[in-house]
Amino acid sequence: MSPSPSVADLMAAARGARANAYAPYSNFLVGAAVLAGGRVFTGVNVENAAYPIGVCAERMAIGAAVTAGRRDIEVVAVVGSAAQPTPPCGGCRQFISEFGPGIVVVAETEDGRRAEWRIADLLPDAFGPAFLE
Ligand code: THU
Repeated sequence: MSPSPSVADLMAAARGARANAYAPYSNFLVGAAVLAGGRVFTGVNVENAAYPIGVCAERMAIGAAVTAGRRDIEVVAVVGSAAQPTPPCGGCRQFISEFGPGIVVVAETEDGRRAEWRIADLLPDAFGPAFLE
């Protein structure tokens, strides 16, 4: 069995994907990579001329994992375009939280400055699947 991808592998995947981000309106390119079931799934932000329907990179990457049948998300890596590491937006915090409070979010700037959080700390007292039981 091949070893599980490292955080460095995930960051490299997020960086690689970021080159394909479609962000002609904000020019804020974001790449994301999700580790789930020992595999890496990537996503980019995809904006739209109808601005509000644009989608964040984190949601695209999670969508790719779920589409492949993987819901056991462990880490979400993000590379944005700001001077500081880009934390997920509020909507993405909710989207990530759906798959577990222990998910780790790691964000890096283009030049490699890193920040790391647990999703439960980014979204305390989250509404989640248990409320619907
Ligand atoms: N964006 C992401 O894709 N992920 C984040 O964590 C923050 C923001 C996108 C949304 C929009 O396309 C652009 O970045 C500027 O907000």
